[in-house]
Formats: sequence, C-alpha cells, structure tokens
Amino acid sequence: MTTEILTSSLTEALTWRYATKQFDSQKKITESDWQILEKALLLTPSSFGLQPYKFIVVTDQSIKDQLTPVCWNQAQVSQCSHFVVFARKSEVTLETVAEYVELIAAIREVPVESLKYLHDMMNGFVSGSTPEKLAEWAARQAYIALGNLMTAAAILKIDNCPMEGISAPDVDRILNLHAQGCHSVVACALGYRAVEDKYAGLKKVRFPREELFIEV
Ligand SMILES: Cc1cc2nc3c(=O)[nH]c(=O)nc-3n(C[C@H](O)[C@H](O)[C@H](O)COP(=O)(O)O)c2cc1C
Repeated sequence: MTTEILTSSLTEALTWRYATKQFDSQKKITESDWQILEKALLLTPSSFGLQPYKFIVVTDQSIKDQLTPVCWNQAQVSQCSHFVVFARKSEVTLETVAEYVELIAAIREVPVESLKYLHDMMNGFVSGSTPEKLAEWAARQAYIALGNLMTAAAILKIDNCPMEGISAPDVDRILNLHAQGCHSVVACALGYRAVEDKYAGLKKVRFPREELFIEV
C-alpha cells in the first residue's frame, strides 16, 4: 500500500468514526473482526511495557443490561455488540515487576541478570511512587489501549463510543473486579451504528490546528 492510500484511508476512517449514541443491537461484531480488535488491545504500548491493566469484554446481554443503569443509563451499553471495560490493576508491586522481567527473559531468551538495569529502574519507579500515583499511572496506560482500540475499530468500520460516564464502583461490583485484582477506569461500546442515530451526520468539532499545536 502506498503512503498516499494509507494516509487518506486512515484520515477517512478517523473522520468516519464518531461517538456512537445508538447502536443497531441486531448487528454483532464477527469473531474474526473481534480477533483483530483484541490484537490492537494486546499490542498496546505501555510505560516500561508493564501493562498494568485488564480488559473485560462483555457480550452477555444480561450483564450489559445490568451495567446500563450504572453507566448513566446510556443506551449504548445494552445496544452494543461488545462492551469493553478498561480496568487498572489494583496493585503494582515489586513482584509484578519481577514477573514481568522473567517474562521478557523467557520470550527474548536472555538471562534475567542481563535485564538488571531495566529491573532496577522499574523497581525504583514502583517503590518511589505512592499507591495513589501508581493507580493514576495505571489508569493512564489503560487510556492508551482505549485510543488504540478506537482507531483499530475505525479502520475496520466498526463503530464505537468511549465512555467515562460510568460509575466505576458499581461496574466493579457487577463484574466482580476487586476479586480479579483490578478497578474499572473507562469503557468503550463497540458495534454498528443504528440508521436513526442522528449523531452520525454531525460535523466534527475540533479547535483550529493553531490552537492545538505548538511548533518549535
Ligand atoms: C475518555 C472519553 C470519555 C467519553 N465518555 C463518553 C460517554 O460517557 N458518553 C458518550 O456518549 N460519549 C462519551 N465520549 C465521547 C465524546 O463526547 C466525543 O468523543 C467527543 O465529543 C468528540 O466527538 P467524536 O468522538 O464524535 O468525534 C467520551 C470520549 C472520551 C475520549
């Protein structure tokens, strides 16, 4: 694919996508498309590569229906095909770091000792941070995954709505997330727009580029 085609189709996809308010609940994301979106989540870059998050993928209609009232009654939750909750890990500890270092060593087939510099750096970051700072840091990493997912979905012409309008403690309770060592931070509804969603035709509202960019 030439750069020109790639550039125009990426811009086209990003312009096509919008925060979908009404999904066609009859249309479901196919398993093969979902596998691509799952890869986009999996391949998300994170600080140090520590991946301090979990993705909860809700397709069960009764769970989506239970989640709707605790997500500001937003219809997207029950209408969408896949509702993804982005959760931050409740704890990032020196053990978390050690496990990750062992994983790098195993995958890249290098001795754990050769990763000492990285290991020490990550340990310094974790032990030098308060639990609150680590929680905020982990949540920020989860948002990167959200961005990746929305872009990947747009390229596949899969509609989506990012959602901060959730009551995180209630979402945690319904999905039993504490027991799984994580807390919800944000969500994304994915599927296909309903023909009657009037938001699909609205012009994008973005500040002029000179207000958003500082060129040095
Ligand atoms: C982190 C985040 C949280 C959002 N939360 C909600 C939400 O709870 N409900 C909703 O309808 N839209 C939500 N939005 C959608 C934004 O309002 C929308 O992306 C923005 O107005 C730009 O419009 P566009 O996405 O259609 O281009 C959210 C967007 C982001 C990025």
